Amino acid sequence: MVKVAIMGYGVVGSGVAQVLTDHYDSIAGRAKEEIDIKYILDLRDFPDSPFQGKFIKDFAVILNDPEVRVVAEVMGGLHPAYDYVKALLEAGKSVVTSNKELVAAKGAELLKIAQEKNVNFLFEASVGGGIPIIRPISQCLAANDVIEIAGILNGTTNFILTKMIRENMKFEDALALAQKLGYAERNPAADIEGADACRKICILASLAFGKHVYPEQVHTQGITKITLEDVAYAAAWGGVIKLIGQVKKLDNGKVEIVVAPMFISHESQLSSVDDVFNGILVRGDATGDVVFYGKGAGKLPTASAVVADIIDCVKHFKARKYLYWDDAQEGYVSPYEDSVISVYIRAAAENDHKGLRIAEKAFGKVKRLVRSDAPESEFAFVTEPKSVMEINACCEAMKDQGVEVLSMIRLSDL
Ligand code: HSE
Repeated sequence: MVKVAIMGYGVVGSGVAQVLTDHYDSIAGRAKEEIDIKYILDLRDFPDSPFQGKFIKDFAVILNDPEVRVVAEVMGGLHPAYDYVKALLEAGKSVVTSNKELVAAKGAELLKIAQEKNVNFLFEASVGGGIPIIRPISQCLAANDVIEIAGILNGTTNFILTKMIRENMKFEDALALAQKLGYAERNPAADIEGADACRKICILASLAFGKHVYPEQVHTQGITKITLEDVAYAAAWGGVIKLIGQVKKLDNGKVEIVVAPMFISHESQLSSVDDVFNGILVRGDATGDVVFYGKGAGKLPTASAVVADIIDCVKHFKARKYLYWDDAQEGYVSPYEDSVISVYIRAAAENDHKGLRIAEKAFGKVKRLVRSDAPESEFAFVTEPKSVMEINACCEAMKDQGVEVLSMIRLSDL
């Protein structure tokens, strides 16, 4: 029998305890060992929980108990999770986590410690909730050179955008509903400002290309400025707005990485990934496009991935799973301003004809988009590809001519 501990009894932690208990026999069959929860660490009291007698408040109890060989860290946040996980790995215990903030910020360091101590540090649940993506990239697609990864990586924002697109629901109402359903982060700013998707694309980029990309290196935009007018123009263009995390390997060895709302054509598979679902496209040189789809958030989907990692640790006490990346050299992440993209722009001028003339003068050829009920002052268009630096200069030139830029959203090439 293997004893495990769970750190954190929130949405995911209670799901992990539930899955380990409900599937006790089948898990024992697959792991070839019975897996028993010895401790659950949480500062709060849970008098009605079925796991009475297992709750502790002192981390040292887990750290110093040689019987505990695998620990699930599902507290979230960087501190104290980082300090705890580091101490556990150094003490020779395997750790599994759903904590994308931790892996995105400290992955290279923690993987190195795990390697030195010959234990496992697994984090399947940190990206895509219940969708298998870490193992497929590190194992099943290992024969490929991955060229690009792009995905809808945040369930909360996808849920909100879907409600805005399909039901004309107000942003605030959709966010409140997502929080009620347990999809949102403790601080939903991490969802709606793009930080959560940023952490996830950092993990995927680090894993696929072997060099750590840190969240502060990534140009990140959320969905708080998206309006129902933008949704209507996306429909006129032939697509929908999705929050996309994208990383591409460039010929010069650098990576181009971004998190931003994008217009996605109806022809792209990602355009039909709705509600809390995530969709992740991995482009390999041998496989072509492979798309992973499923529930990217929620108690049981995420707990399922955490428990699968626990089983994997139990099966691999003697053989480390190969999961590793190093720190990158300086300049590895290409500057965002150098990216060449097309954008949609919605703007206001004295009248739409005058505004469009100014837009053509600044940008050269543009394609006009129209929506019903637009005020006379509003106009919208999409540009030809240009560098972000050039696009910013063109917008400045329009502003000098009295045009107010109301929205600017990338067109995706997915
Ligand atoms: N808040 C996250 C999301 C939870 O909405 O995707 C899963 O990482």
